[in-house]
Amino acid sequence: MDYFNYRSEHLYAEDVNINDIATRYGTPCYIYSRATFERHYNAFVDAAKAHKNLVCYAVKANSNIAVLNILAKLGSGFDIVSQGELSRVVAAGGDVNKVVFSGVAKTKQEITYALELGIKCFNVESIAELHRISEIAAELELIAPISIRVNPDIDAKTHPYISTGLKENKFGIDINQAIEVYKTASKLPGLSIQGIDFHIGSQLTEVTPFLAALDKILLLIEELNQLGIKITHLDVGGGLGVPYQEEEPPHPSLYVDKINDKLAHLPNLELIFEPGRAIAANAGILVTKIEYLKQNQDKHFAIVDAGMNDLLRPSLYQAWQNIIPVTLKAENTAKSYNYDIVGPVCETGDFLGKDRDLALSQNELLAVRSAGAYGFTMSSNYNSRPRICEIMVDGNQVHEIRQRETIEQLYQGECLLPC
Ligand code: LLP
Repeated sequence: MDYFNYRSEHLYAEDVNINDIATRYGTPCYIYSRATFERHYNAFVDAAKAHKNLVCYAVKANSNIAVLNILAKLGSGFDIVSQGELSRVVAAGGDVNKVVFSGVAKTKQEITYALELGIKCFNVESIAELHRISEIAAELELIAPISIRVNPDIDAKTHPYISTGLKENKFGIDINQAIEVYKTASKLPGLSIQGIDFHIGSQLTEVTPFLAALDKILLLIEELNQLGIKITHLDVGGGLGVPYQEEEPPHPSLYVDKINDKLAHLPNLELIFEPGRAIAANAGILVTKIEYLKQNQDKHFAIVDAGMNDLLRPSLYQAWQNIIPVTLKAENTAKSYNYDIVGPVCETGDFLGKDRDLALSQNELLAVRSAGAYGFTMSSNYNSRPRICEIMVDGNQVHEIRQRETIEQLYQGECLLPC
């Protein structure tokens, strides 16, 4: 459930009319709802209570520092994948002791920064990385807390670009090599083995693949135990899907309960979750204005002011996101056609939605739903388009949490050759 609803004919974010925000801040713009972020985060926390746990919000889903701050105030931990994301957590007042660091290509600089800050854990994705962390920690005379990200070779049954737990994917360490890697880790200087983790993919709409992965990991934990290698936390990654269209992903409480059921015999094992999309996706919309309507022999196009550079998901994954009018029309005032909603970018793949039956008019506003996750964070300046503003609604208050970029900012830092 979220807090984007119609009141009579107007779409509201919490208690604020979307039209008013668009008039004040312009379009396109991302609009978020604080209450929705909080509700989704709390759904996880409430469900997870039955077992010792930590929810580490996946920063990549929506990394605006206002979003991170809202979650930090609720006690959230964070899953990060770069120095930039870690700096954002710090800037947002997040607790670095609740940060786990995932990602396949951690640089020396990133490892040093995270180690000196004192993060909770490095989720190690290769043997080479393990050696690098050990060397850096030993040199700094610090101890690096580590977990091995195991690739369990499980089909997450999601889009191939966001599937991460198959052996052909670049992520994690082959489950068949995991024991050897733990043995190596136990001998290397500067390391303290803390946990084990996996993340098999994103937008999962069934619990079964999570549980299949978990079964394999629990066997590993047992094996490690027998070798005297003690694990204090189990990180089950993120990946829980959201309803974009007709998907019916499990509610966080069902998903968490099923995982907890398998851990009843391990009450002291801290369970870590890394949800991104499940918290952020439906906490945001992208508001865009129709610049032109155009029709050729057999197609109707609504050309809007937001493009693939603002919201890449439809172009990159053929993702379907609901597109709705910001103001509902009285019936029979406009004729409905089958539209492709396309952007201004010079690419055929630049669309926000295809084959949508809508009654549209020039200059009206549309809202792309479920745009709070992997929306702004995947946006770019392609076609020299300034990145758009982000607005947070909190009850009847409106906060501009990121200003629209200016044209000058587009080439700030560039320079001409001397002659
Ligand atoms: N943990 C790790 C290690 C991850 O790689 C990810 C996402 C997450 C947690 C959070 O997953 P979530 O709960 O959000 O599914 N850009 C794509 C999604 C890419 C996800 C990458 N990793 C999209 O727009 O669908």
